[in-house]
Amino acid sequence: MRDSEFVQDATYADHFGAYKSILNRVLDHDPAMFELPVGIRIVDIGCGYGDLLKLLRSRGHTNLMGVEPDLTCLEGARKEGFEVREGTLTATGLPDACTDAVIVSMVFHHVDDYDAAIREVARVLKPGGLLCVMEPAPTVLRTLMDFLTFKTPLPRISKSVGQRYAVMKLEIETGLYPKFLAEQKSFHAILQGRFEKVWLRRAWFFQFGKYRLRSPV
Ligand SMILES: C[S@@+](CC[C@H](N)C(=O)[O-])C[C@H]1O[C@@H](n2cnc3c(N)ncnc32)[C@H](O)[C@@H]1O
Repeated sequence: MRDSEFVQDATYADHFGAYKSILNRVLDHDPAMFELPVGIRIVDIGCGYGDLLKLLRSRGHTNLMGVEPDLTCLEGARKEGFEVREGTLTATGLPDACTDAVIVSMVFHHVDDYDAAIREVARVLKPGGLLCVMEPAPTVLRTLMDFLTFKTPLPRISKSVGQRYAVMKLEIETGLYPKFLAEQKSFHAILQGRFEKVWLRRAWFFQFGKYRLRSPV
């Protein structure tokens, strides 16, 4: 499945693969925070190498599926034993109302059209279904980290900052990461047009949100 919303560089998966262990270790990306009941159907869109699916499985969740457009990541997640469909956040290829919950972790900032992405998530969720979101937040610390990563020699001195540089450089080149940070107001307005906020937490570098699909009016 290819759609115009997938604009990723061919080397992104390798750089992300090298960087993700730092991301997972240093930052709190644990989907347990969403308190999803065991047994419900959960689709992780843009699942990468399946790290969040693995965390969910380790906590007893069995009804899991991934969607991922990058074939390197997709194969990685399949090797972990997950069912993974090739697709994007704007074109998952999934049937209508097929899942109880959707996780979108670090993927909204890879798409240009938030409305199309949120429409697609709403389409695949069952009535009252849950959307769990993890994304970068435009915090002072993130601005500082981006400054250190891109405007100083630190990436040449620190291996982990060097790995962040390699990943974030590609995200900046597409224009989508800076766009996401700049368009927070409109992103959240679009999101809350279709979803009711259960909670939204902003941390030092990231934001985490749990949303429930609104009933059609
Ligand atoms: C920063 S990684 C996050 C991976 C995983 N969700 C996690 O939190 O570990 C971004 C992921 O989104 C995928 N991706 C990029 N563009 C996408 C799109 N338009 N639709 C769905 N996934 C996309 C990438 O291939 C990559 O796996």
